[in-house]
Amino acid sequence: MMEDYTVVIDSLHGRKIVLGVTGGIAAYKAAELTRVLGRVGADVHVALTEAGARFVSALTFQALSGNRVWTSPWDERMENGMPHIALGRGADAMLVAPATADFIARLANGLADDLLATLCLARDCPLLVAPAMNRQMWEHPATQRNVATLRGDGVMVLGPDEGEQACGESGPGRMLAPEALCEALLAFFTPKQLAGRKVVLTAGPTFEAIDPVRGITNASSGKMGYAIATACARAGADVALVSGPVALPAPAGVRRVEAASASRMRDEVFAALPGADVFIAVAAVADYRPVETAAHKLKKSGAVMRLELIPNPDILAEVAALPDAPFCVGFAAESHDLDAYAEGKRRAKRLPMLVGNLLADGLGGDDNTVVIYDDEGRHPLPRAPKAVIARQIVEHLARLLPAR
Ligand SMILES: Cc1cc2nc3c(=O)[nH]c(=O)nc-3n(C[C@H](O)[C@H](O)[C@H](O)COP(=O)(O)O)c2cc1C
Repeated sequence: MMEDYTVVIDSLHGRKIVLGVTGGIAAYKAAELTRVLGRVGADVHVALTEAGARFVSALTFQALSGNRVWTSPWDERMENGMPHIALGRGADAMLVAPATADFIARLANGLADDLLATLCLARDCPLLVAPAMNRQMWEHPATQRNVATLRGDGVMVLGPDEGEQACGESGPGRMLAPEALCEALLAFFTPKQLAGRKVVLTAGPTFEAIDPVRGITNASSGKMGYAIATACARAGADVALVSGPVALPAPAGVRRVEAASASRMRDEVFAALPGADVFIAVAAVADYRPVETAAHKLKKSGAVMRLELIPNPDILAEVAALPDAPFCVGFAAESHDLDAYAEGKRRAKRLPMLVGNLLADGLGGDDNTVVIYDDEGRHPLPRAPKAVIARQIVEHLARLLPAR
């Protein structure tokens, strides 16, 4: 039986986003933001302030968004002649990025002295702003007062970041990166099914050292675990990700702890566990490790070499056996007989939920085909990108999670 999931929100597909661009040096990043939003399916409509158009031309945004760009309330191209209202109709959200100190001040005071300010006033969708300015402008009490007013009005303020600024100074005021803003929008549209919940999860392979430069590892890329960590964070959870060695950036809004070996991963999991509601064991933890790790690099010789291995701790079994165990989700990657092995593992470890996949379907790739096993049976999910699978796993888990 295929599961009937609610709309899978791993994209902004079909969402109309009005992107306001004001006159800050970070306006060049808004061009990239337009592309990033378009890539995840958003229908982006850009409204530029006059100052914004001095930094990046309307033509650039038009080419990148595929839509007309608007700068003036007196623009007669709009069919009903009222772009200051019409552009916002049907929008799912407005995002002003970059938002200058000047624009934030105008917004806080309800001014409607240009097209973008008027659109922000005459709207019935959520408004998000990403401030971008010199650190002294940001720290000025007037700006801080205005930002507090916006928050009080229900506007979501994204950032700013700290760091090196275009003016050569360093401090708070940098606009968040386009990818971080896109992630914030995705999170904004995700139902908060895990709000108030703490999730600990493991991801990636482990590395069991043989000597200082060699070890036993496996082909896990960490992509599935990282996608689940992202999906949990978007759903409002407090997420601790204990990660083996992978080549992936830490997901936004997730605390990542690095742990190379199974033993270290076990210690980090137990350190993160107090207060956890959910434990998701996605990592491909090595079953065995060398009995000894050589202190020096092993030298080559013509003789046969034998490596003695001992079993590693079974992190999931240990956590699931705790008297106050969190809700435990296991993963099983098998080369054959998936149903028998996966359901066997779930029962042996007494897990309320386990996700199984065939190695040929998932390891290392961007897509996956999985089956969820729980007390009610097996629930196959259609083949999909790992981000979509991750979202479905989080929905399933949120449904099974006991209420508090
Ligand atoms: C080269 C240059 C860079 C500027 N960068 C910023 C900036 O990063 N943030 C900001 O708040 N204002 C910045 N300003 C000032 C704004 O452009 C100015 O306040 C303008 O009136 C903003 O208009 P708008 O909010 O309607 O876009 C800059 C001005 C210049 C000339």
